[in-house]
Amino acid sequence: MSVLCPPTTYLPPIAKIASFSVTQLLDALTYLQSLYHPEVRGSRRKRVQVPVSNEEKNSHLRHEDDSELQAIRSDAFERSYSIRWLTTLIAQLEVWQDLSHSEEVLLDDLGTPEPTLAYTEILVQQAASLLAICAGVAAAGMITRNFVFGSIDGQRRVEAQLTDIPLDNDDYGSVGAQTWGGACVLAEMIVEDPERFGLGSFSHGPESRRLNVLELGAGTGLVSLAVMKLLDSLPFFNHREVHVVATDFHPSVLANLRSNVDANVSTHNQITSTHSITTHFLDWSSFSTTPRPDCLSYPFDVVLGADIIYEAQHAVWIRDCLKGLVRRPSDSTVSPAAFHLVIPLRPTHAFESNTVESVFLKACDVDPNGDADLVILSKEYITCDAYGDYTRGQGLDEDVEYVYYKIGWFNARL
Ligand SMILES: C[S@@+](CC[C@H](N)C(=O)[O-])C[C@H]1O[C@@H](n2cnc3c(N)ncnc32)[C@H](O)[C@@H]1O
Repeated sequence: MSVLCPPTTYLPPIAKIASFSVTQLLDALTYLQSLYHPEVRGSRRKRVQVPVSNEEKNSHLRHEDDSELQAIRSDAFERSYSIRWLTTLIAQLEVWQDLSHSEEVLLDDLGTPEPTLAYTEILVQQAASLLAICAGVAAAGMITRNFVFGSIDGQRRVEAQLTDIPLDNDDYGSVGAQTWGGACVLAEMIVEDPERFGLGSFSHGPESRRLNVLELGAGTGLVSLAVMKLLDSLPFFNHREVHVVATDFHPSVLANLRSNVDANVSTHNQITSTHSITTHFLDWSSFSTTPRPDCLSYPFDVVLGADIIYEAQHAVWIRDCLKGLVRRPSDSTVSPAAFHLVIPLRPTHAFESNTVESVFLKACDVDPNGDADLVILSKEYITCDAYGDYTRGQGLDEDVEYVYYKIGWFNARL
């Protein structure tokens, strides 16, 4: 059975809910979860990187066409059917709970061991939270997710709650209203290994030097918030001034970015007096020709970008912004600044993705006696599962491939 079936087809009939097993009902709830509260596509990194040839890569990349899924999700009739189904399920579960208390009935006879009260409680919790999602803000197309990232040794844990808002009347320009897999991948990599991103102890100079972090095309703000919360949790940043600036250019995306930053800062009260995060308008296409606001007038030590190259001009515009924003080497005691970019390899946008390597040369291809330039210092492929286990074998399970580029100054002498 495919996740692309509408609820009216997939779910056990409302009138017969009582005759279905706990296992079947849990499956139905998982289906509704993947429909109305999905995880971000392509955000589960595979831990073992298997080298693959270009042909293999192209053959297993899936078409990123979730339009059928979107159509079912936004169908008001299907949503109201799901609400009725969940309401009936909860009522039935309450009946079962009462009966289980009196030990007259076992709930599941289809292979689940000892299905008792605990199972109905899990079902009630899942059904109630889905009901709230289906009947509440999700009805307006908003999705709020809790993201959790941790260090490999399990010592650090960073959590952020992000809300996606609906695209503006299918306005392609408002793609940043949603959290994309690239942001999840970059945030996860940073939290796992801050040192690699210039966020380790003594990165970019002594404690007395302020660390400036910038995100381009921040969208919902996941990467900036993960960095802010990570630095809050690292003892060696306790007394160091840190400033994170999350930027975007689309009005509704920027408004949602501000609201996500406010929600996380006030909810968790994690921002110390030495650490601050701000949001700001920044349009790559006009950045070099317009006056700079104060918060973008100083050089940045760490610049971040997730899924921000998908039009022909993007790489050129971004390079021009970076020339004015990435700190040039000025002191041998301060580690070099860098731009960290993660982009998905969408089969439909191969030309645009390739522009990264025509706009930024590889360090080994640059004349060491030439002018200072921003070059690709390293490149790494990352493979993610498209979705979780539920979609395995249902046409939604192919991999999503990303590239991580580290870009920095070359020939910019001290
Ligand atoms: C695919 S979204 C990625 C958003 C976010 N980084 C993520 O991965 O979830 C691309 C982002 O780039 C922003 N963007 C596109 N063109 C831009 C421009 N000319 N100047 C600034 N931001 C731009 C969009 O508003 C959007 O937030």
